[in-house]
Amino acid sequence: MGKVKIAVAYSGGLDTSIIVKWLKDKYDADIITVTGDLGQRAELEGLEEKAKLTGAVKSYVLDLRKEFITDYVWTALKAGALYEGIYPMACAIGRPLLAKVLAEVAIKEGADIVAHGCTGKGNDQVRFEVAIQTLAPDLKILAPLREWEFKSREEEIDYAVENKIPVKVTKASPYSIDENLWGIAIECGVLEDPTVAPPEDAYQITVDPKYAPPQAETITINFEKGIPVGLNGKITDPVELVTALNQLGGKHGIGRLDVIENRVVGIKSREIYEAPAAVILNTAHTEIEKLILDKDTFRFKQDVSNRVANLIYDGLWFSPLFNSLKAFVDATQENVTGEVTLEVYKGNVRILARSSKYSLYNKDLATYTSDDTFDHKAAEGFLSIYGLPYKTWGKVTNIAKKEVKS
Ligand code: ARG
Repeated sequence: MGKVKIAVAYSGGLDTSIIVKWLKDKYDADIITVTGDLGQRAELEGLEEKAKLTGAVKSYVLDLRKEFITDYVWTALKAGALYEGIYPMACAIGRPLLAKVLAEVAIKEGADIVAHGCTGKGNDQVRFEVAIQTLAPDLKILAPLREWEFKSREEEIDYAVENKIPVKVTKASPYSIDENLWGIAIECGVLEDPTVAPPEDAYQITVDPKYAPPQAETITINFEKGIPVGLNGKITDPVELVTALNQLGGKHGIGRLDVIENRVVGIKSREIYEAPAAVILNTAHTEIEKLILDKDTFRFKQDVSNRVANLIYDGLWFSPLFNSLKAFVDATQENVTGEVTLEVYKGNVRILARSSKYSLYNKDLATYTSDDTFDHKAAEGFLSIYGLPYKTWGKVTNIAKKEVKS
C-alpha cells in the first residue's frame, strides 16, 4: 500500500501553511494543496513553491474566477438571495465551489482524505463538509483546527518558525478577513463589540461615504435572462464587470454593511462586509424584475429568495431543495432582459430609469391623464366582491360602534 494522500484546501495563510506540515507529520501523508482563485487580492503568485517548501508533494492553483461568477454568483443574484435581508454572501457562495474543486482534485489524485482550515465555530466548516459529503460521499474529511494543540496565533507562529515553514509574519492585523470578487467579510478585534462603530481601518475596499467624491456617477446595467451582460454598454466579461463595479462602488462608498447575523452553529456574530458590486447588481436586478414579473410571481419569488439565501448560508448549495428552487428561479428569469440606469453617490445607489421589451408596465393603464384606458367603473363591482368578507366580518364584530362607545 502506498502512502496516505491528503488534499488540503490551501490559502497560503498561517493556518493552512501549518496544516500542511501538521498533517504530513501526523499521518505520514503525501499532501496535495488546492488553491482556488476567486478574485481575492492576496498574492497567488509563488503559492505553488510556497506549498512545496511547506511540505506538499503537489500543488494546484486554479483560476476559478469566471466559473465563480457565472455558475455561483449569478445563481444567487438571479434568486435575489440576501441572507437575513442584507448579506450578499460572498463567503457562503464561494465555499461550495472551493469544496467541489477540492473533491475533484482528491479523486483525480487518488486521495482518500481532504482537509480544510475552517474553525469549529464557524459556518464555513459546514459549507465545506456538507458539500464534500454530497459530492464525494466516500472522502474522509479532516478539520485540523478543531483538534490541534495550538491555542493562539502566537503558538502557530512558534510552530512555523520551529519547522521552518515560510509564513509572512506581517504586522498582525486585528481582523480576520475573507475576500473574493463578490465581497469582503471582516471580523474579530474591536468588531466583536456590537456597541462600537467599526473603525475606519477595518474597511478594505470602500471609502467612507462622507469622503466619497462630490459628483454622482451614472451607470447602466444590461440584463439578459436575469444575468448582467453589460456595464455602460461596454464591459461584457463577467469577471471584468464585477471588478469594475467593485472599483466604482468602492470609490463612492457603496456596499458597506454592518451586520449581526445568526450563524448555523447557533451563535450570533457581528461582521462587517464590503460588497459594492453585489449591492449595485442586486438593486438593479430587483428593479428590472419589478417591471417584468407578474404580481404573483414577484411575491412568490420574494419568499423563494429568502429560502435560497438560507440554503446557501447554511451550506446546502448542492441539496435537492436548492436544485428545485434554482429551476424555479431560472424559469422566472426567462424574460428578465432589459436595462437599468442607476446613480451612485456618497454611499447610495439610486434608480434613475429602467426599461425592457418585456415590461408589463402599461402607461395607458397607469396614467392619470385623458389617455387613461383603465375601466374605473369596473372597480365598483370588483370592490363589492373583494371587500365582501371584510364587510361580513365588520358587521359581526362592529368595531366602529364599539370604538364610539368607549
Ligand atoms: N459570516 C460570514 C459567513 O458566514 C463570513 C465568514 C468568514 N469571515 C471572515 N472574516 N473570515 O458567510
